[in-house]
Order: sequence, then C-alpha cells, then structure tokens
Amino acid sequence: MLRAAIIGLTNIGAQRANASAQAARSAYGLIPQSHAAAYHQHPRTELVAVCDLRPELLDRFRHTWQDIWPNLRYYTDAEALLAAEQPDLVSIVTPDHLHAGLTVAAAQGGARAILCEKPLATTLADADRMIAAAAAHGALLSVEHTRRWQPIYRTARDLLRSGELGALRSMTTSMFSPRAMLFRNGAHMVDMLHFLAGSEARWVWAELEAGYEGYDHYRGDGGHDPASEPAAAGYLHFANGVRAHYESAKTPYTDAQFTLTCDHGRVELSDQTLTVVRPTAVGLERTPVTPTPMAMPGLLGAVDELVQVMEHGGELVSSGHSARQTVEVLLAMLRSHAQGNVRVNLPLSEEK
Ligand SMILES: NC(=O)c1ccc[n+]([C@@H]2O[C@H](COP(=O)([O-])OP(=O)(O)OC[C@H]3O[C@@H](n4cnc5c(N)ncnc54)[C@H](O)[C@@H]3O)[C@@H](O)[C@H]2O)c1
Repeated sequence: MLRAAIIGLTNIGAQRANASAQAARSAYGLIPQSHAAAYHQHPRTELVAVCDLRPELLDRFRHTWQDIWPNLRYYTDAEALLAAEQPDLVSIVTPDHLHAGLTVAAAQGGARAILCEKPLATTLADADRMIAAAAAHGALLSVEHTRRWQPIYRTARDLLRSGELGALRSMTTSMFSPRAMLFRNGAHMVDMLHFLAGSEARWVWAELEAGYEGYDHYRGDGGHDPASEPAAAGYLHFANGVRAHYESAKTPYTDAQFTLTCDHGRVELSDQTLTVVRPTAVGLERTPVTPTPMAMPGLLGAVDELVQVMEHGGELVSSGHSARQTVEVLLAMLRSHAQGNVRVNLPLSEEK
C-alpha cells in the first residue's frame, strides 16, 4: 500500500462521502468528495497521518473517520508530520495562497507524489518554486483542477479532438455566482479553457469588477471573502489560434457553463449537461450526449493517476506546469486591467 497524508482538513480535505440519493456514483461507489474519501476508496492507498493548524479539525476528522483509520496519527505541525511519517503521497489542501511552502517541504521531505489543491499558487514566484522543488526531488506534482477528471469534460474534450465537428475556433465560459472570485473559482474555468483548447494562451486582456481599479496583484484571503477578489471579464488568445471569452459576475444565483464553437457545430457544456448543436437543412439540431463513464472520476481519478504514474510512468493530466499556465493568465488579467485594459503578452515579462 502507498502511504498518504493530508495537510488541511476543511471539507475538501476531510469530508466523508455524501450518501444522499443524489450523490453521483462511479464503478468504485460514491464519487469521493474529499482527499480523505479518495484515499479511502482507492485500493492502493491508505491514509497514515493528517495535519491542520486547528485542533478542532483534527478532532472532527477523528470523529468522522475513526472506524476506517483507528491508528491514524494527528499533527498540528506539517513539517513534523513529513519528518516522522515519510508519506508516499501528500495532499496540500490549505488556502489558495498557502500551497507553496508546504509543497516545497513535501518534495524536500521525500514525498513521491503531491496532490495540491487549485489554484497552484497566487504568484508566479510561488508556482516556480513549487515546480522546481518537485523536479529537484523527483516528486510528481498534480494540481486538483477537478474537472480534468470529470467524465463530462473528458467526453467534451474527446469530441473536440475527434474532429467530428471540425476545428475548434472559439470558446466562451461564463461563471455567475456569489463567489465568482477570479483566483478561487475563476481558476477552474481558465484551467478548463486550456484543457479544451489543448494549447497555451499567448495573450490576454481583461476588465475587473468595478471597484478593483488598483488590484494589480493577488490580494485575496486564500479564498474566503468574495470581496477580497474581483470577478472579471476577459479574453484569451491561444497559440493554436483558438479564441476564448471569459465572463463572470457576483450574482445571488449560481450558473457556470462553456460553449465551444467548431466549424461544423457547437458544444454546450456544464457540470451537468453536454449538448451538441449541429446545423441541418432546416435549422439547428440539438443532441444531448451521454458522457463516457470513468471507473475513477474526480478526486479518485486524481489519486489513481498519481499511483499509476508513480508505478508505471506517464503524463499527468494536471501537472504543475499546466496549472502554472492558469496562474499566469489570472495574473495577466490583473495586469491588463491595471494598465488600462490593454493586451498583455505571455509569458509575463516579470511579476508585479
Ligand atoms: N477542487 C475544488 O473543487 C475545491 C473545492 C473547495 C476548495 N478547494 C481548494 O482547497 C483549498 C482549501 O480550501 P478551504 O476554503 O477549505 O481552505 P481554508 O482556508 O479553510 O483552509 C484549509 C485548512 O488549512 C489549514 N492550514 C493552513 N495552513 C496550514 C499549515 N501550515 N499546516 C496545516 N494546516 C494548515 C487551515 O487551518 C484550514 O483548516 C483551497 O486551495 C481551495 O481553493 C478546491
């Protein structure tokens, strides 16, 4: 068995599978809603230790998982955990701006694989030191951009790559939510634009939510108060010519979706539905598509991919390098706005 540890024990790190009737299922049962649930469900991993600065979250974890892991070790000091436990896999589930130091420590401490929550980081300096530490110590670094392991998004990407609809030309993504924060939640959408485009952004422009005129670098609180990060509208031009529009606003309701326009049809995509729109002699025909199931979707897929790559080699679908592209685009959007909504070329010349 591979030995795993989790640092950061809020819901995404620690909660037990939601057994409600609506909960999605995979071949391995309920789709895990947390890093702990994923390590529990994966047949090759066992959790040996967890850590949080807050003792009450350690107590809650013990209460929730005692029947599964009665001998788990509990820490409030991550460095002590890494030194004492020498885990194979380490999940970093701390606030958005506090992933870097722990990821570097895990790599230096000998972890073979690190599953870091998204966004990778909130500065390029942090992103670079995380990627460099993983490379220097031979650790795999995967970033938990959840949708990359969701069947509906895999199926949409495969449909685009099949060429059935012709070349992908243009994408839109819209995210409306009380928490339409650029880094905390926009990171998901910008990352998915990269995944679907299959390319790197070459230039960007953006306009931030009103009231964020001087917001030229990340000033969030790790993803809590929506006021600490702007919503934004923007545009990404990818190296392969694909164009993408990003729009978001802080609204009392929640809605997020993508439209993907190809030469011979369009794809409408959200977490819930995948529809192909094709031209016919009498107008547009809309066809719902059933996603191709995955045995291990979501967080379980992220864990499984690390296990497979650790043991057999191969590529990560959400590597540190690919997640860095999203961080760079988000920072470029801030820079564009701060400089008067101008075009910002990538790579960014230097971080501001
Ligand atoms: N992939 C997804 O869909 C998804 C969903 C929810 C959250 N997330 C991500 O998960 C991360 C955690 O989010 P959150 O809102 O639950 O975070 P949070 O701000 O509530 O913090 C998580 C925990 O980390 C602990 N922590 C911070 N520094 C620590 C340290 N040095 N050592 C040990 N523990 C430490 C805190 O005490 C806290 O309990 C964020 O990066 C967030 O973006 C991702």
